Amino acid sequence: MKFIAIVPAAGVGKRMQADCPKQYLSIANKTILEHTVNKLLSHPKIEQVILSLDKNDQYFNRSPLVNHPKVIRVNGGKERVDSVLNGLRSVDNKTYPWVLVHDAARPCVSHQDIDQLITQCLANDTGGILASPVRDTMKRGCVNSANQQLIINTVEREQLWHALTPQLYKTQQLMSAIEQGLANGWSITDESSAIEQANLDSLLVAGSSENIKITHPDDLLLAEFYLAKQSGTLLN
Ligand code: CTP
Ligand code: MG
Repeated sequence: MKFIAIVPAAGVGKRMQADCPKQYLSIANKTILEHTVNKLLSHPKIEQVILSLDKNDQYFNRSPLVNHPKVIRVNGGKERVDSVLNGLRSVDNKTYPWVLVHDAARPCVSHQDIDQLITQCLANDTGGILASPVRDTMKRGCVNSANQQLIINTVEREQLWHALTPQLYKTQQLMSAIEQGLANGWSITDESSAIEQANLDSLLVAGSSENIKITHPDDLLLAEFYLAKQSGTLLN
């Protein structure tokens, strides 16, 4: 079976505080967006990428991806979920009964993790996400009347995972869950949050913690390190 990947890339990257959206920052002479899209398109099971871009995007036209035959461009929306839904609406459900959704800001995903996700979801006939187990002891906090941040309790770590992408779902199921969620005012931060609130099953598939979402300036160095490690150029 072949897959299509939606890549939401319409964010402004506020937390990165750069002078362009973070997906257009360069690491080792390529933009983060190029690293991410190349990583997906070089996977043997991924045939096409749908890129959701800001409708006023001024950067993509300068990208080598602009004329790529396997890249389709759609307009993004106000929130990530709107960008994903616009992408979903352009997917032919018969050709691609399953769809991957992967953040533009996660260039360090590995083919091995994508393989794991696809294999486990198809074997169980259930959608799912890559996730990494939480390592630290987790605390729930609250601010008291003296404006102090205090610990309420310790949260059982065994059940906690960091949600990563890609997230893989049946195209029709994901679109219905998101549409239902938007109509009902659900908070939809990732694909699985829509699926959960629609009371549908999702698998947690253990993936590498190297698959970081580049969010803050410090993450750029880390991503550079992981990309070099993956390409075998670390010691050059
Ligand atoms: N995204 C999108 N459309 C939006 C908001 C986000 O397509 N309206 C994309 C981003 O481009 C990114 C992914 O969703 O690839 C994950 O979002 P995040 O890391 O939060 O990126 P930004 O929203 O750009 O960053 P920030 O929250 O710091 O502004
Ligand atoms: Mg954001």
